[in-house]
Amino acid sequence: MLEKAAYSPTIVYRRILPHDLKAVEQLHAALFPIRYELEFFLNVVNSHGIISWAAVDGETQELVGFVTTRIILAKESEIVDLLKSESSRTEQTLVYILTLGVSEQYRNLGIAFSLVQEVIKYGSDISSCRAVYLHVIDYNEPAIQLYKKMSFKLARRLQMFYYIRGYHYDSFLFVYYVNGGQSPCSPLELITSFAVHLKNLFTSLRAKLQRNDTKKLERWLKCKERDSSLTNSQQNKRILGAENSLSQCV
Ligand SMILES: CC(C)(COP(=O)(O)OP(=O)(O)OC[C@H]1O[C@@H](n2cnc3c(N)ncnc32)[C@H](O)[C@@H]1OP(=O)(O)O)[C@@H](O)C(=O)NCCC(=O)NCCS
Repeated sequence: MLEKAAYSPTIVYRRILPHDLKAVEQLHAALFPIRYELEFFLNVVNSHGIISWAAVDGETQELVGFVTTRIILAKESEIVDLLKSESSRTEQTLVYILTLGVSEQYRNLGIAFSLVQEVIKYGSDISSCRAVYLHVIDYNEPAIQLYKKMSFKLARRLQMFYYIRGYHYDSFLFVYYVNGGQSPCSPLELITSFAVHLKNLFTSLRAKLQRNDTKKLERWLKCKERDSSLTNSQQNKRILGAENSLSQCV
């Protein structure tokens, strides 16, 4: 990796365009442990429901960073309890960060910081928007430090949110409020937030129990396979399929 002081390229920030398709695909493949479908990249470069920015080296025109986002209705989001109560009744919106990444040689130059600033500016300029939010896997220290530095609030920890290559990982949910979106935390809202927290806890417990059941079933299938040479390929396919369906920031 190049030293911060030794290398200071001019970086240009702009929207991602159709001709960025290959570069955006390659950078995602290089940076993330999960694979994204072609449809995702086509939506990114054609701005179909996804709004994205690129960081480009001004000299070489190489795409060296990206951030992809989409707009979500606040009342349909998982963070509606973290917003002012009117959000659950109106058409208020949120900007959700799907993916963010910077090419390794261009790290520690403030590029991710600038890309996320673009997103915050974009959200602030939409009068209906109340927050920018995202998920990040619990061990991604550079990204966690980045969001903390940018004054995102750590809203909650979601247990076993990610399922990658056969393992479950927790995620942190970070929120950056814009246009006065933050809940004033009235007693009623605190109770609602507590209820949502309990619900999340039950959901994760249920997932854990289901996982245990799946493990038992897998063990049973393996025994059965040994005994009767049956294959359990269909079940494996289902587990792999779950990996591919992910499209959130890790
Ligand atoms: C996380 C990532 C996007 C950061 O990109 P970057 O352009 O190097 O980050 P910046 O230079 O803008 O850093 C801004 C701040 O983030 C934090 N940060 C960035 N990299 C860090 C690291 N390796 N360790 C600790 N903090 C780090 C620091 O607070 C830094 O501020 P500082 O330079 O004043 O200390 C980059 O490491 C990356 O692409 N990682 C792989 C993909 C990924 O994890 N994406 C995030 C998914 S949510």
